[in-house]
Amino acid sequence: MPEHPRTMLVTSALPYANGSIHLGHLVEYIQTDIWVRFQKMRGHDCVYVCADDAHGTPIMLRAQHEGIEPEALIARVAAEHRADFADFLIDFDNYHSTHSDENRALSTLIYTRLCEAGHIETATITQAYDPQKHMFLPDRFIKGECPRCGAADQYGDSCEVCGATYSPTELKHPVSAVSGATPVEKQSLHYFFKLADFEDELRTWTTAGHLQPEVSNKLGEWFNDGLRNWDISRDAPYFGFEIPAAPGKYFYVWLDAPIGYLASFKQYCERTGRDFDAYLKADSQNELYHFIGKDIIYFHALFWPAMLSGAQLRTPTAVFAHGFLTVDGQKMSKSRGTFIKARTYLDHLNPEYLRYYFAAKLDSGIGDIDLNLEDFTQRVNSDLVGKYVNIASRSANFIVKLFDGRLLAVDEFGEDQAATTNYLASIDNQAREIAGLYEAREYSQAMRKIMEIAAAINQDFDEQEPWKLAKDEAQHERLHRVCSRILHGFYRVSIFLAPVLPGITSRVATELFGQPRNLTWADLDPARFPTRINKFKHLAQRIEADKVQAMIDASKQDLTDIEAPTGTPGAEPIAETISFDDFAKLDLRIARIIRAEAVPEADKLLRLTLDLGGDTRNVFAGIKSAYRPEDLEGKLTVVVANLAPRKMRFGVSEGMVLAAGPGGSELYILEPHQGAQPGMRVK
Ligand code: 2FM
Ligand code: ZN
Repeated sequence: MPEHPRTMLVTSALPYANGSIHLGHLVEYIQTDIWVRFQKMRGHDCVYVCADDAHGTPIMLRAQHEGIEPEALIARVAAEHRADFADFLIDFDNYHSTHSDENRALSTLIYTRLCEAGHIETATITQAYDPQKHMFLPDRFIKGECPRCGAADQYGDSCEVCGATYSPTELKHPVSAVSGATPVEKQSLHYFFKLADFEDELRTWTTAGHLQPEVSNKLGEWFNDGLRNWDISRDAPYFGFEIPAAPGKYFYVWLDAPIGYLASFKQYCERTGRDFDAYLKADSQNELYHFIGKDIIYFHALFWPAMLSGAQLRTPTAVFAHGFLTVDGQKMSKSRGTFIKARTYLDHLNPEYLRYYFAAKLDSGIGDIDLNLEDFTQRVNSDLVGKYVNIASRSANFIVKLFDGRLLAVDEFGEDQAATTNYLASIDNQAREIAGLYEAREYSQAMRKIMEIAAAINQDFDEQEPWKLAKDEAQHERLHRVCSRILHGFYRVSIFLAPVLPGITSRVATELFGQPRNLTWADLDPARFPTRINKFKHLAQRIEADKVQAMIDASKQDLTDIEAPTGTPGAEPIAETISFDDFAKLDLRIARIIRAEAVPEADKLLRLTLDLGGDTRNVFAGIKSAYRPEDLEGKLTVVVANLAPRKMRFGVSEGMVLAAGPGGSELYILEPHQGAQPGMRVK
């Protein structure tokens, strides 16, 4: 155990229960998981909880659109999320849902305490209302012309064309994105949390070391703008918890979302017999950490501590914000194939490679991090495979073949004793520094240090030329010493990398060194060193560039699977204007589908054989979930005939069939009127 064992509860932000986990989300889960694994390796009592964020209008509408109950939607998405996290080795101690009994009870408790302390007030407000759907419309569900630049089809809060921000009442020709009806204004009673009651307390809290300096500074600006009361209620219909003694009024999703952290911990406590109430007491000495993205700082650094304090509960020890992910220097893009879902990545690449790459990029700040795909391939190949795994693959088999797998202990190095002791001590000296870097979330520096050590061990190996020693029996004792020393070094590097590479390092411990337990920091103690090594089995393969390309291609295919944000027709914004010349570049042709067959290995693809009036094409179309192949054969459709051929996993696609719709089972291929013939150009 460490000198001062700490008791820590750690959370990552709760993902919404209506979308897939993508690489952007994973920055945070990987960052948190590394930290938690590190804390556990140090012997601290650290619990990591999370949950699905299951409430709110988008989830309600998405379920309606799919024709299912919200409970069924959130159960399906939760199963998908859990599988994605497990496969990325994100090791939650508990994963729950905000739509749970624990969360209802805790939300009610906190709200009731806030009411009793006078921190809740009501006011009547006027909002846009959809007279057809009989519901109030959140800003994002109203669309219309931008009041500044006139761009069509802009959301009710901001214009994607000119960047203006405004209130939905300023939109010209507004329509409900849910039904297409023109919204009307309607009054309703809302419940507000009086954030301003906490101004002094928050000013102190936000500058008392609980936040990163750049975050504290940002908050300073918000204080100057004044703390406004926070609207915590929404009218029915809403998927969430009804507010006690307020029929037809529901807690806004952002009220019960952070409480969901505690609900998940409560479930954990009930399962493991821990004292939940003691942890949450206002004077608790236990630690509470939230990892979040920089876009939700306001909620976590102002509303959340205020809610906790107002309910006489403990406030967070620290909130750690991180930046966003870019891919190849740009925002993730669906059409470029860089909006990569967790599952799509897993279909092509090893999760620990991404964990390593993110670790090599992450620091304690809120700057964005870039996944440069070429650099990713190169770094994984040169660091993980070339530097780390290589140490064991080069040295283990000498020990296995010539010395029956026996490793020399640290005091058995004979004439090399002094040199070996110094060498291992120099690695151990760096252990303290590496631990400090993990603790401070300076992972990129930690990775650099660890790889320097790995490089030095490889250099030592090269200088000793063990392959030469192996040929001369008189040199075998020396060879035993050299390879034992190298493998002692490798074992230490494995301990250092264990928070980042839990899968690979656990195989190192169990399979290679025959120690069936998780590595901990205490394993740096020479008394705990392994004494034997087994035959080296491959631990990690180099990344082939075509794997990365296949992932990008598959992400482009995922396009057809992406629903418009509200799950309603017409909710997808109109793309940027193009010139007539751009349009004229498209060669659209009528094609007859002469054969259609499912691609068994792809969830979404049909292989279509098309006749373009004498020219036969092979085209893959992501319409499997919407059509049975036999229903398509013989039909006419429209195809982009001059699209550059694309090499896919299953063959080359020579064009693209046009289809409309949000995706899934709702995709409709275009069909011309009667009389059109295969090969005719569409103009
Ligand atoms: O921004 C989001 O994705 C939210 N679902 C995060 C919630 S974090 C916490 F407050 F629950
Ligand atoms: Zn505009």
